[in-house]
Amino acid sequence: MSRMEPPGIERILFTEQQIQQRIREVAHEISERYRGRSLKLIGVLKGAVFFLTALAREIEIPVEIDFLAISSFSPRPSAPGMVRIAKDLDESIEGQDVLLVEDIVDTGFTARFLLQTLAGRGPNSLAICTLLDRTSRRIVQVPVEFRCFEIPDRFVVGFGLDYKQLYRNLGYVAVMKLD
Ligand code: IMP
Ligand code: MG
Repeated sequence: MSRMEPPGIERILFTEQQIQQRIREVAHEISERYRGRSLKLIGVLKGAVFFLTALAREIEIPVEIDFLAISSFSPRPSAPGMVRIAKDLDESIEGQDVLLVEDIVDTGFTARFLLQTLAGRGPNSLAICTLLDRTSRRIVQVPVEFRCFEIPDRFVVGFGLDYKQLYRNLGYVAVMKLD
């Protein structure tokens, strides 16, 4: 069955098939890296939910999952975003191998804040896996160990990513027409 693209979509960047294929490859890399251990996947609500579930199903070692939610705010409209935890994890991560799962790493502020916060809780290891990486807009450097796709400097939606809370349920990633 084919579905019409909703209004506001300029072009599809990655199809559902391309995304599934790439997730399989990255899940294999992750399984190799952590072979013999178990892994805790931490998803950042809400954008990472679609990616996390697809990734988790392809990982070949035991995984636990947990979620946190953040909210961003800017003290001034032009200032870089500040981030706080709006919903914390349900369980401790002490001594565990933790993979922070993100929809997109853009400026890097969110990822850096979360890495610093989680590192303070004594995990055995901590790394980032992101569906999309937009390195051209990075302001703070963060180590991104696993990523599916690098993207151009355009606003994108789909596969978890939203525009005003819409479009998260698209199976593909598309460039948004913003005008
Ligand atoms: P960062 O702190 O600038 O790296 O921003 C990361 C967050 O901004 C992501 O988790 C997204 O919620 C949001 N974001 C950044 N770029 C996009 C985009 O192109 N589409 C939708 N959300 C985005
Ligand atoms: Mg968002």
